[in-house]
Amino acid sequence: MVEGSLIRNGPGKQRIGCDEFKHMFDGSALIRKFDIENGRVFYRSRFLRSKTFERNMACNRIVVSEFGTEAVPDPCKTLLDRFMAYFTIDKLFSDNDLVNIVEISDELYALSETPFITKIDKNNLSTLEHIDMRKYLAVNIATAHPHYDTDKNVYNIGSNFGCYSIVKIPKEKGFQQGSVVANIPAYRPFNPSYYHSFCLTENFFVFIEQALVLSVSTAITQHFFGGSNSNIFKWIPEYMNKFHLTSRQDGKELSHIYVSDPFMFFHTINAYEDNDHVIVDICCYNDDKVLQTLFMDAIKEAEADINSAKKQADYIRSQARRFVLPLIRFDDQLIIGQNLNRLENSSAVAVVSENFEIKCTPEALTEESAAMAEMPTINYKNFNGKKYRYFYALCRRDDLLCRLMKCDTRTKSIVLWEENNFYPSEPIFVPRPDAIDEDDGIILSSVISEIENNKGFLLILDAKSMKEIARAEMETPSYLPPDFHGYFC
Ligand SMILES: [Fe+2]
Repeated sequence: MVEGSLIRNGPGKQRIGCDEFKHMFDGSALIRKFDIENGRVFYRSRFLRSKTFERNMACNRIVVSEFGTEAVPDPCKTLLDRFMAYFTIDKLFSDNDLVNIVEISDELYALSETPFITKIDKNNLSTLEHIDMRKYLAVNIATAHPHYDTDKNVYNIGSNFGCYSIVKIPKEKGFQQGSVVANIPAYRPFNPSYYHSFCLTENFFVFIEQALVLSVSTAITQHFFGGSNSNIFKWIPEYMNKFHLTSRQDGKELSHIYVSDPFMFFHTINAYEDNDHVIVDICCYNDDKVLQTLFMDAIKEAEADINSAKKQADYIRSQARRFVLPLIRFDDQLIIGQNLNRLENSSAVAVVSENFEIKCTPEALTEESAAMAEMPTINYKNFNGKKYRYFYALCRRDDLLCRLMKCDTRTKSIVLWEENNFYPSEPIFVPRPDAIDEDDGIILSSVISEIENNKGFLLILDAKSMKEIARAEMETPSYLPPDFHGYFC
């Protein structure tokens, strides 16, 4: 039996006083932990004591705006106050770190997509320290999905004015010795891309600018006149998605431009190099409508009306797609219309366009209609950035995100786990310590009940077969909400 702790993060409190958070991305961060010891499982949870949480609770209302929730402005604040606050980022962003849990230099941190991260005690989940990453790293925001190399150094990507910066945090020295290792110029500085994740391969950072962008002008206007943060995101389908390949050795970007038709994504699955190609697997949406379906009003509408539910289900079809980016030598002769993908058994296309950009059309790894793939995970420890075969993800049955999937990217076959009236969370793969096979390990997922909202269980699956090995059922004193991401340590 596995031993260790699964620590997860997500929105736990959807209402403060009479105020209700308006979007699934907004509720107060609730940290949850499953300790697995000697065949027994212990569960505990604790609200992250972010400054935002403390301020909200002290006022008994929502006083800090979140992604889809606009706080009621302080009536005593003048326009001049708001103008001055524009120059103080900690007045702009919430530190409600509800997205992920990561390990940096042997310490655990809760993260979202702001510069503010929170150190937590891995034993009792108490909040230890509020950290403003801008004190140590030259970025204004950063993703909640950093990567590790084999030495457990941490890489993340953040934003600066006019560029995206990749930062490295050395395991032994921590934030104090963090540094920018690559700068990637923004294709459209006044409409920088939204990004939630990126990839590493052996030699490259892989970063994708997508057609979901942030409108700087809207952000400034809204700061003075109000509005939720979701308003500053714009879906501009005329924009092509742009893939950046940046050398991990010297931080320089390859000069060839790789583009694709627009798609929206939160999560990359994995990327690797194969025979002078870079392969990038991504959970893709056709547009940004998924963001609208996660507003609480839309969720309630879907719960009340089957037609609304079906319509919204159509919006949240995420398909795993494989993009193939051929590496081009400086003396290669490019012929317009030529497909540069030389990989066998690959239907992805990379065509030289008239302006000599490489237009990439992906190969589907999962069906678009039936088996939505989201919250993907792999055998990260042994296969991140390397040629791999399997990923695990949440997927749908009808309009419900209620299945766990194992996808064989070679055969495109899928194995499912599901149980009526229960919703699993993001699968976490834990390899067997002496494993040889890529899928020799277990899948952990915290599962909640649709019927009784204070019941759930920790599910343990055999990753080869997706058959259940064990479950630890629990009943909590209060509502047991869904969560986003987690970490096993
Ligand atoms: Fe995420």
